[in-house]
Amino acid sequence: MLDKVKELIGEVNEFQANSPEAVEDFRIKYLGKKGLLNDLFAEFKNVEPASRKEFGQALNTLKNAAQDKVNTLKDNLESADEQKGFYGDLTRPSEPIELGSRHPISIVKNQIIDVFSRIGFTVSEGPEIEDDWHNFTALNLPEYHPARDMQDTFFIEKDPDILLRTHTSSVQVRYMENNEPPIRTISPGRVFRNEDISARAHCIFHQVEGLYIDTDVSFADLKQTLLYFTKEMFGKSKIRLRPSYFPFTEPSAEVDIYWGLETETDYKITKGTGWLEIMGCGMVDPNVLKNANIDPTKYSGYAFGMGIERIAMLLYQIPDIRMFYENDVRFLEQFKTVL
Ligand code: PHE
Repeated sequence: MLDKVKELIGEVNEFQANSPEAVEDFRIKYLGKKGLLNDLFAEFKNVEPASRKEFGQALNTLKNAAQDKVNTLKDNLESADEQKGFYGDLTRPSEPIELGSRHPISIVKNQIIDVFSRIGFTVSEGPEIEDDWHNFTALNLPEYHPARDMQDTFFIEKDPDILLRTHTSSVQVRYMENNEPPIRTISPGRVFRNEDISARAHCIFHQVEGLYIDTDVSFADLKQTLLYFTKEMFGKSKIRLRPSYFPFTEPSAEVDIYWGLETETDYKITKGTGWLEIMGCGMVDPNVLKNANIDPTKYSGYAFGMGIERIAMLLYQIPDIRMFYENDVRFLEQFKTVL
């Protein structure tokens, strides 16, 4: 009897298992209700009194050995799971957080806002679906005015006309109607024109328009503000104003910056002149002030407007305006480092 128990102790100590099922079978075999240990304890009464002490001790050793074996085998299997990556490597650094990138239009828009907010301009916004008054009539473009054809319009409803705004100048009218001078505001936003899509033109694009109204505002103020802007935005400090025409400003001008002629690209984008047109501007026409209930005998002002896509194309040397709207991640990812 005693020999049998000793043999079992040996067996228990030798036992190995590499699956949870094998450990469980082992446990049932030795420690289960109908297991070997219970059987052996039941034999206890048949053992001669003189051998009982030794037998009892051996049985206890067997029981502890079986119990220890089950525990160690379970622990071993669990740590093997851990090593196999069941729980992952808990000491490994976490996955890097994937940050998206801002769209180049947003980047440039924010830069423009930043430059003008440093000299006291606020940001104003208005609706993309406009009425005729705010997009045209109040801006000195009465019905049948030929200059309406300068911007091909998407109409939503006729009589009264409801349309997609063709420029953010409409926001200026709204701002003047609701605010007293002095006014210093820029209006960034999306605009729409019924144009053929090409590398240089799109039917949807973005503008930033600026408006400054106060007593004694002069053309020299306009030029200094634009010079400040081009220095901050492009690091270029040479500009020229070419006479032009807009119905809502008088006099009107196109703003060119001197880009330079250092590289082949400079030649290409400036068509060999070194100059690049970047925006339109002028002194607000007295009729426009009147339409917005501002007294033109007391106040004067200037306005300017630029396309954000154009500025972004120049800053980042983007050759085709359509790239802004294709959402190609290979294009967009390049702006990851810019905040
Ligand atoms: N609204 C003009 C355009 O869309 C730009 C502009 C704004 C010109 C303000 C002069 C003054 O082309």
